[in-house]
Amino acid sequence: MNVVFLGPPGAGKGTQAETLSKKKNMKHVSTGDLLREAVQAGTATGAKAREYMEKGLLVPDKLVVDIVADCLTKGGNNSSFLLDGFPRNLAQAKALDETLKKLGYKLDGVFYFVVSEKTAVKRLTGRWLCSSCGANYHELYMPPKKAGICDRCGKPLGQRPDDNVETVKKRLKVYHEQTADLIDYYKKRSVLNTIDADRDVGDIRNDICGVLDSLFKGNK
Ligand code: AP5
Repeated sequence: MNVVFLGPPGAGKGTQAETLSKKKNMKHVSTGDLLREAVQAGTATGAKAREYMEKGLLVPDKLVVDIVADCLTKGGNNSSFLLDGFPRNLAQAKALDETLKKLGYKLDGVFYFVVSEKTAVKRLTGRWLCSSCGANYHELYMPPKKAGICDRCGKPLGQRPDDNVETVKKRLKVYHEQTADLIDYYKKRSVLNTIDADRDVGDIRNDICGVLDSLFKGNK
């Protein structure tokens, strides 16, 4: 079974994807994480991606489409995928359709996370991440027990370079200009599930879980 998490930066896609992919035994494919890993590793892909990510712009389609196709191909026949942050424009959505078709998979559902701009900015500018295990915190909503230190592994926490107010605003603008068109695209295909993401993490998770359960049942 394959689903997409769609929504503006700061909607909470990554937070939900992390928990639900484990709970439902799905492979979590986050293009943001894969690109940041490439940047860290100093690959040619990473170097190219970094120029765009630092400015809050979308990385060129070819680069992201190839990364996702590679992940899906290597996933194996019985895998379920949870795509987080991909596709982000019509060209990527069409490329995803092609890749899924080639592999004999289908897209079962798209979860559209709806959140106000004010909430998104607050969430992103207060986000802290563990440099070692990747655990995700928020200084107000999900603070670590000890400021600046990861609860899980004890390593220092840091902020993403694109989580400053100016770049966050740019990312939101890019979302409205390039990604929001996908809402209609998926609505027309009757796979869109709208999620009120301006709520508590647990309430959002329960709603998505309910829909995933019915999608899994329908796939049996
Ligand atoms: P990416 O890493 O995908 O960033 P994003 O879409 O901007 O999403 P975020 O990770 O910032 O937000 P999120 O919705 O996952 O929120 P989270 O759960 O972390 O992309 C980064 C860049 O990579 C892009 O700008 C682009 O350059 C490039 N890129 C990536 N994919 C691409 C693609 N397909 N094509 C081209 N370029 C691409 O939550 C945020 C904070 O809020 C956390 O602190 C969390 O603890 C807190 N929080 C979460 N939920 C709640 C809640 N319900 N209540 C209170 N706090 C909450």
